[in-house]
Amino acid sequence: EYPEYVKIVEVGPRDGLQNEKEIVPTGVKIHLIDMLSETGLSVIEATSFVSSKCIPQMADHTEVLQGIRKYPRVRYPVLTPNMHGFQDAVAAGATEVAVFGSASETFSLKNINCSIEESMFRFQEVICNAKQQQIPVRGYVSCVLGCPYEGTPEPTKVAEVVKRLYEMGCYEVSLGDTLGVGTPGAMATMLHAVMREVPSSALAVHCHDTYGQALANILTALQFVSLGCEGMLFVKWMGICVVDSSVAGLGGCPYAHGASGNVSTEDVLYMLHGLGVKTGVDLSKVISAGDFICKALNRKTNSKVAQARGDC
Ligand code: HMG
Ligand code: MG
Repeated sequence: EYPEYVKIVEVGPRDGLQNEKEIVPTGVKIHLIDMLSETGLSVIEATSFVSSKCIPQMADHTEVLQGIRKYPRVRYPVLTPNMHGFQDAVAAGATEVAVFGSASETFSLKNINCSIEESMFRFQEVICNAKQQQIPVRGYVSCVLGCPYEGTPEPTKVAEVVKRLYEMGCYEVSLGDTLGVGTPGAMATMLHAVMREVPSSALAVHCHDTYGQALANILTALQFVSLGCEGMLFVKWMGICVVDSSVAGLGGCPYAHGASGNVSTEDVLYMLHGLGVKTGVDLSKVISAGDFICKALNRKTNSKVAQARGDC
C-alpha cells in the first residue's frame, strides 16, 4: 500500500541550480520559482544562505527571496548552515529554514567545513533562535546511502544523526542519497534503522538519480503493509510521505563530484499519480516550468516524462 497523499518538496531552485557553473540571472531564478508556485506545490526550497565563495550561484539569495511572489499556500524554506546564514535569511524575510548535516565525517568537513559534532552545535544555535521567532526548521542528513569519501555509512550512524536533528527540534528530517548510489535494499535497511529512532511522519527522502535508482528507492520508502489480525490493524513500515525532487531533474552537489541531479519532480508526479496517490501538484504546469528553466540553461531536461511528452 501507499500513502493517500504525498507532499513534494521542490528543491530545484536550490539543489538544482547550486551546481550550475554559469551564474543564472536572478530574474530567471525568480521566474522559475513563480512558475513553480502556480503548480500546486506546497513547499519550494528557494535558495541558500551560504558562503558565496563556496557556492557563487547562491550569492543572490536575498534578491531571489525578496523578488519572488509569495503565494500564501506555499512555503519557501532556505538553507542556513549557521547563525550567519540564519541571520541573513531572517533579514531577507525567510519564514522557514533548513540546516544540513551529514552521516559522513569527511563529507561534513568538505561541505560545511566542520565535523559532525561541531555542526550539531551550530544547528542547535540556529534551531534555538528559530524557535524564539517561530520559524520552523527542517533538517537534512547527507550521504545516508553512500559518501564520495568514506563509502557507505553504517545505518546506525545515519540513525544517530537523524535522531539528534529530530530531538533538537527539526520538524522533518530529509534523508539524502547525495551520490545517488543507493538501491532499494540499502534504502530499506537504512530506513529500518532510522525508524527505530524517529517516526516516519517526521522523515522525507531526498534521492539523487545518478545510478537511475531514485524512483525505485522512493517507492521503497513510501510503501507500507497493513496486516489485519482478529479485527486489529497492524501497520508495518515504511510509509514515508514526503519526497524531495527537482524540476527537470536539475542539480548535483558541488562536494559530491559525479553525482547527478535529484530525481525529477515530473517523474515522481507521474509515478505517484499513476498509483492513485494525491500530490495536489499539476504535472503539466511542472513540465512547463521545467521547459522554461531548460531553455534558460540551454539544456535538455533530465525528466523522462518531460522528454516523452516532448515539451522540452
Ligand atoms: P566556514 O568557513 O566554516 O565559516 O563556512 P566561518 O564561520 O569560519 O567563516 C569564514 C568566512 O565565511 C567568514 O568570512 C564568514 O563571514 C563567512 P570572511 O571573514 O572570511 O570574509 N561565512 C558566511 N558567509 C555567508 N553566509 C554564511 C556564512 N558563514 C560564514 N552562512 C559554511 C561554513 C557552511 C558557510 C561554508 O562551508 C559554506 O558555505 N559551504 C557551502 C555549503 C553548501 O551550500 N553546500 C551545498 C548544499 S548541501 C547539499 O547540496 C546536500 C543536500 O541537497 C542533501 C543531499 O543531497 O544530501 C541538502
Ligand atoms: Mg541534494
